[in-house]
Amino acid sequence: MTKIQLKEINEKNWEKCISLRVGKDQEQFVASNIYSLVQSRYETSYIPLAAYDEEEMVGFVMYGKDPDDGVYWIVRLMVGEKFQGKGYGKQILLKTMEQIKMLPDCGSFIITSYVPENTIAEKLYEKVGFIKTGEIIDEENIMKFYIV
Ligand SMILES: CC(C)(COP(=O)(O)OP(=O)(O)OC[C@H]1O[C@@H](n2cnc3c(N)ncnc32)[C@H](O)[C@@H]1OP(=O)(O)O)[C@@H](O)C(=O)NCCC(=O)NCCS
Repeated sequence: MTKIQLKEINEKNWEKCISLRVGKDQEQFVASNIYSLVQSRYETSYIPLAAYDEEEMVGFVMYGKDPDDGVYWIVRLMVGEKFQGKGYGKQILLKTMEQIKMLPDCGSFIITSYVPENTIAEKLYEKVGFIKTGEIIDEENIMKFYIV
């Protein structure tokens, strides 16, 4: 597997992005990419990014500073159904965290959340250093990654 690259969504790749889907049984865990792209159009602090392995778009991630709490959140993460289980999810997550850490206003932690039944996401976030805070917002468990 080559190194994942995160690229902006533009006029050339947005249709590919919305065609990228998770498995039917995973749809309860993450909003569709079309929803996320529309959200980023109107909630402009969110940055949607496509994840590529060479020329192939394999996943999608969206992060941004929550205007209410001033903290960077990773609000979406998905890998296309047929690309899952190859290590892409972990790479996308680590790359996104690196990108946030480089920002001058990144603060001292990053937040993410997951649907409680989503044990794969929970384990993945724990593996890269996120810790459960015990808070539940919008029925999702909150996790924090402390930037040292
Ligand atoms: C969660 C998700 C992004 C993981 O992406 P992925 O590319 O399949 O994950 P990776 O291959 O990087 O694997 C990450 C870890 O999860 C584990 N894992 C991945 N798929 C798994 C599965 N079906 N069953 C058990 N463990 C699994 C891997 O073993 C791996 O652990 P390791 O590093 O010890 O090997 C992907 O499953 C997905 O898009 N799910 C639907 C959307 C979603 O739930 N998003 C998260 C919202 S909070």
